[in-house]
Amino acid sequence: MSTAEAIAHKPRILTGDTPTGSLHLGHWVGSVKRRVELQRTHDCYFIIANMHAYTTRLAKSDEIRRDSIAIVRDYLAMGIDPEKATIFLQSEIPAIAELTFLFAMLLPFNRVMRNPTLKTEIELKGLGETYSFGFPLYAVGQTADILAFRPVGVPVGEDQVPHLELTREVARRFNQIFCSVDEHAEDDDHVKLGGAFPVPRAEVGEVGRLMGIDGVNKMSKSLNNAIFIADDAKEVEKKVKKIFTGRQSPTEPGDINNVLFQYVRTFIKDKTRVAELEERYAKGDNLGDGHVKLEVAAAINELLAPMRERRAKYEGRDDLVLEILKAGCERANKVAEATLASVKQHANLVAWPRVLSYR
Ligand code: TRP
Repeated sequence: MSTAEAIAHKPRILTGDTPTGSLHLGHWVGSVKRRVELQRTHDCYFIIANMHAYTTRLAKSDEIRRDSIAIVRDYLAMGIDPEKATIFLQSEIPAIAELTFLFAMLLPFNRVMRNPTLKTEIELKGLGETYSFGFPLYAVGQTADILAFRPVGVPVGEDQVPHLELTREVARRFNQIFCSVDEHAEDDDHVKLGGAFPVPRAEVGEVGRLMGIDGVNKMSKSLNNAIFIADDAKEVEKKVKKIFTGRQSPTEPGDINNVLFQYVRTFIKDKTRVAELEERYAKGDNLGDGHVKLEVAAAINELLAPMRERRAKYEGRDDLVLEILKAGCERANKVAEATLASVKQHANLVAWPRVLSYR
């Protein structure tokens, strides 16, 4: 069996990120680690949703471009293998834009505006009444990002579930209106009954949420509490030393649910050692925070060492990163174009066969 055939036999999944800057340990724990594992068992598509970044950072398009390349570099460093998975850029897949237009007709306007993730974003980012038409449209766009690839599952965090609900609605309506699937059909039967789209599942799983080194907020670039994948060993040690626990002395009974011990459990691989540290810390058995931090920093550096090695190859080599992205776009376009051709046929759009290719 060729590689292409082997890939074709695996169930397909799609997920991705809006480029917001360099990736940190929170991304690793929360999503990328799982994606690296999924590469073995699934045909993986990872979308860099650069157009979504334009909804709020239009005036900083140079940064969006830089961040899009940075995120691919970090994916590669973290072990996403471009031989196994397809990493691609949203703006290079014309079928996504075309499907967005059609899918927008399948959703009542008020239904889109009720999406709780959009509402939260409007509030958190203080968008008030000033947001562009493109802002809510991105939620419709995300249904196209997904359905263009007809995946069975979409591994995402909890916050993305409303977008998946919208996606499932689009799939159901399309199948009902254009493929004569009965409106009472079970979601899992749509394809069997002639639907063009599977009704994809959100695969939320138990994803870790890593606290930042401030011990107060979730790890986040904008909150200045992040350890980046690209940080060197010294930087990691420096940041881990800053973790604040409020504990006064090595003989004070410590709280093993504090941020430092979240890191102990997340990054120290030897479970016997973890249990030992927990026991001594809880008892105040002469175990200082400083010592625990040294072990945590060493464990994080052990995780990051192979990532640094892989990363070195792409540092200052945007050309290599772009080459990988371009190959991914070519693969992604093959799938998305096939979906679009079938959609056009079902929706009675007059269309002639077309081939997309790069020069
Ligand atoms: N909205 C997602 C986020 O901000 C990124 C995204 C865009 C995405 N298109 C997608 C995720 C399709 C999963 C599937 O994280």
